[in-house]
Amino acid sequence: ETPTPKPPLTLYLAAPRGFCAGVDRAIKIVEMALEKWGAPVYVRHEIVHNKYVVDDLREKGAVFVEELEECPDDRPVIFSAHGVPKAVPAEAAKREMIYVDATCPLVSKVHIEAARHHENGLQMIMIGHAGHPETVGTMGQLPEGEVLLVETVADVAGVEVRDPDKLAFVTQTTLSIDDTVDIVTALRARFPNIVGPHKEDICYATTNRQEAVKAAAPHCEAMLVVGAPNSSNSKRLVEVARKAGCSYSQLVQRAADIDWRSLEGVRSVGITAGASAPEALIDEVIDSFRARYDTTVELVETAQEDVEFKVPRVLRIPA
Ligand code: F3S
Repeated sequence: ETPTPKPPLTLYLAAPRGFCAGVDRAIKIVEMALEKWGAPVYVRHEIVHNKYVVDDLREKGAVFVEELEECPDDRPVIFSAHGVPKAVPAEAAKREMIYVDATCPLVSKVHIEAARHHENGLQMIMIGHAGHPETVGTMGQLPEGEVLLVETVADVAGVEVRDPDKLAFVTQTTLSIDDTVDIVTALRARFPNIVGPHKEDICYATTNRQEAVKAAAPHCEAMLVVGAPNSSNSKRLVEVARKAGCSYSQLVQRAADIDWRSLEGVRSVGITAGASAPEALIDEVIDSFRARYDTTVELVETAQEDVEFKVPRVLRIPA
């Protein structure tokens, strides 16, 4: 009996995709901390939003907690790539703990901006998603209640400010570029003197991944985004693909999550990955297509990246 030939299928692989420089650095920080101080090393919050990465580091001796109170005084603690409110390192210092801040330098840049505007007497507005650790961390750079959160264009109309001429804004780094343009436009229309970044604070990695998905989407009947359900930039990639015409756009953590039934009859599938998803998971997804289809892989590359961030000095000097 001859086996039925596999149906043909083209995978459009978006590039850039997956790990960004901030995620790469954060993971390296945990690994180097484990080497330097031995296990256990505590990590406040998932170092990056990916279960596979977290499980791997846990196996190497990292202990993941949500709050600093859960850490003993005498073990090092690392703060996740998303950033932390000012009160967290302050508390660690008070407890005389060894701590390493793995906040992405591009998030720290936003923290510094917010603090600078505040010092200049401007009230801050943050464009971001309520409850996301980056939003909590950035808002937590200033005293409680000092930063107003805006999530949507509709929110702009309702925001109550002290003085419309003394305002500034910052944004989360992983937002949808297009949605944010609309919110910034609404903010500038209502508060013509608002001070802010030239466009927004969305990082190069978020921008590049969204651009690549936009370029790939028109070729594809379906789009799979490898990433975690709590990963902001991954969720945005799903939306961007939908808006670019891929009505079937899904987040998958790994190959086992692929709903093959709903892909029946589909001959072109786009693949990308959020900034916290390791390439091994993308390879796994591609392999699972190869197992079922006569697969051709086409690269859709819209940019090349060579950004790299140094780890903090404390990890570059011997113990
Ligand atoms: Fe940093 Fe952007 Fe990655 S803010 S952690 S480079 S997604």
